[in-house]
Amino acid sequence: MSTPAQLEALAIAIAREAGEFARLRRIEGVAIAATKSALADIVTEADREVEALVRRRLAEERPGDGFLGEETGAETGSTGVTWVVDPIDGTVNYAYGIPSYAVSIAAVTGEPVVGEWDALAGAVFNPASGELFHAASGEGAWLDGMRLAVNPEPTPAGALLATGFGYDAATHAGDIARVARVMPLARDVRRIGAASLDFAFVAAGRLDGYFERGLHPWDHAAGALLVTEAGGFVGGYDDLDVWGRRLFVAAGPGLYGPLLQAARG
Ligand code: IPD
Repeated sequence: MSTPAQLEALAIAIAREAGEFARLRRIEGVAIAATKSALADIVTEADREVEALVRRRLAEERPGDGFLGEETGAETGSTGVTWVVDPIDGTVNYAYGIPSYAVSIAAVTGEPVVGEWDALAGAVFNPASGELFHAASGEGAWLDGMRLAVNPEPTPAGALLATGFGYDAATHAGDIARVARVMPLARDVRRIGAASLDFAFVAAGRLDGYFERGLHPWDHAAGALLVTEAGGFVGGYDDLDVWGRRLFVAAGPGLYGPLLQAARG
């Protein structure tokens, strides 16, 4: 079994390689390959190609590890390590040419089930900005060579928050009601469009907090580790469902409790 730092180094290398591939594909033009859970939930040819690249590189470097990817699903491994991968988080931004998308790669122990897995390492790479956020369990969170720290608490002006609205139109009214509940804590709210970057920005102190319903494991596996390694907290409902889909909240220590309470309602 490798150390978290060794897994982190591999996640970084593959995220860079895959992100550069995605960036070049973007320049050539985006082809929508299919829609998934809803018409708004798209998958591009690049999503599939990038996931194939990541999966192939991981299999070469670490045969026997498990894999859970947004586009190709789960494969149980034999080593106790599972890689949880979003090849292009922020696919809609990618398709529209908004430079906020990321390759997100995490290594976790055991079954990739929220509340049961332990995240060991993660990398979130935005090839459009060139920023690579990474963390290893017990080793801190980093943006390139700079150590990251969450904001301990918001300024008196209120918290700069981010959220998202998922693809299922039936859930949007509830999402908007949640925004209304947290608004008294906020100075403003961002909708960046890539959950992994929302987590990374909380870790970097660019946001005070982030909350969203409906995330999948590949949306938060690497990002949540960034936040906890930067001194923040992540959570949702006490009886968090296995995929963590009902609610995810991430924030620094001063904001986490009030934000969680307001977001839960
Ligand atoms: C989506 C993005 C978005 C979030 C959605 C995710 P995808 O991931 O992270 O910000 O609001 O819930 O599904 O589909 O672009 O990989």
